[in-house]
Amino acid sequence: MSENKVIDESIQGEALMIEKPEKANGKKLFLESYGCAMNFSDSEIVASILKDEGYTTTNDFFEADVIFVNTCAIREGAEQRVRQRLTEYKKAKKGNPELIVGVLGCMAERLKSKFLEEEKLVDIVVGPDAYRDLPNLIASAEDGNKAVNVLLSKEETYADITPVRLGGNGVNAFISITRGCDNMCAFCVVPFTRGRERSRDPETIVKEAQDLFNDGYREVTLLGQNVDSYLWTGGGLKKENLSTDEIKNATTFSQLLEKVALVNPELRVRFSTSHPKDMTDDVLYTIAKYENICSYIHLPVQSGNTRVLEMMNRGYTREWYLNRIDAIRRIIPDCSISMDIITGFCSETEEEHQDTLSLMEAVKYDFGYMFAYSERPKTLAERKYKDDVPAEVKSRRLSEIVALQLEHSAMRTKRGVGKVHKVLVEGVSKKSKEQLFGRNTQSTVVVFPKENFKPGDYVNVLAESCTGATLIGKAI
Ligand code: 5AD
Ligand code: SF4
Repeated sequence: MSENKVIDESIQGEALMIEKPEKANGKKLFLESYGCAMNFSDSEIVASILKDEGYTTTNDFFEADVIFVNTCAIREGAEQRVRQRLTEYKKAKKGNPELIVGVLGCMAERLKSKFLEEEKLVDIVVGPDAYRDLPNLIASAEDGNKAVNVLLSKEETYADITPVRLGGNGVNAFISITRGCDNMCAFCVVPFTRGRERSRDPETIVKEAQDLFNDGYREVTLLGQNVDSYLWTGGGLKKENLSTDEIKNATTFSQLLEKVALVNPELRVRFSTSHPKDMTDDVLYTIAKYENICSYIHLPVQSGNTRVLEMMNRGYTREWYLNRIDAIRRIIPDCSISMDIITGFCSETEEEHQDTLSLMEAVKYDFGYMFAYSERPKTLAERKYKDDVPAEVKSRRLSEIVALQLEHSAMRTKRGVGKVHKVLVEGVSKKSKEQLFGRNTQSTVVVFPKENFKPGDYVNVLAESCTGATLIGKAI
């Protein structure tokens, strides 16, 4: 996890390492992941499949027999970064013509076989629902054939695959609970790259959480594009096809949260992402009931103006959103809240931008992830609306929003000074080897002297001072 919370791009690349497989096949894999937490979680599925095939990993792509890059398509910038990275792999391919380069994930799904035409270097293109096919696709590429599998599935949840935990700290791990998204927000490419929404069997989720706890992990984050629409009905059926009785017997998100919280009181539970149109009071009461479900909700708003929200097809108004915020404050008084905001969506006026700023003033978010609108192919907005806010206006609005968020984050952090925080230690602080860092339940980073503490410990820390986004203190 990053120590820095206020960002305007979430994309980063990271070489991911797996432990030695039982039966090594002598081949080396370089696996890199860009984009959201779901992509990192998917890379852990990919690593598991390839570990079973006998691959070891390397963090030097010049040494690799196979390079896989798990890609993001959410904004144009994310795709540009991947293309840039591909040109770097070219150097490795020059030295080793046998090298296989595969593109995985959302950009692969979006471009499909077009990728092979556009980037001669690429041998394999695999969408997010086709990772089980990777061994076949590699074999085919080894025979000199280009290989593509971008089939999306209505059922695939990889529920039976135990992810190989990559590049982690042994303290926190992601668990996917749903895949895909049925929401069709007008700006968003995800429904096209990740397909229809499906929920994963709760028993497999609870077992994964229990196994992680037994292995020493102390925090899990349940992942889905819209966790509130999680619904397990036994056969993965959709809500609209169920009788009232079947819905009564189904497992909802709040019930799932409770099951995971009950794995062990020492296991912290986080989740992302909540959707304002679907987040129920039930979920909030469950969070309030269990100390180990963290008091932190990521509730993307996207815009503070109802007309823009309607164009975005978000399914709520400004008032509805603010009502959800009131419900959070009422039911979980100590809860921190973060958002995603897009500036300069099609036809957004200056007044409507002011509405976003005034909504931020009303909520005073703890953290925020803010982006300039980037038109994506095939989306409703691309087909129906003009991307007519000039780039410089988008970026000026973005900097106003980022500046306001920095103020609010600093104010929220400051409120934590003088208080005692229960911190789950995640690792050694980037700035000093003598300091540890971790997070409190609100997800604020807390730094304090190491003494004899280690990652995975819970430590009560008295915060004595702060920077914009970090509390600084000492164990008591
Ligand atoms: N342009 C800019 N930001 C986008 N997001 C999704 N699609 C786009 C887009 N086309 C942002 C939203 C979403 C977050 C994951 O990325 O704010 O919540
Ligand atoms: Fe995209 Fe909207 Fe689904 Fe989030 S809820 S993944 S923004 S379509």
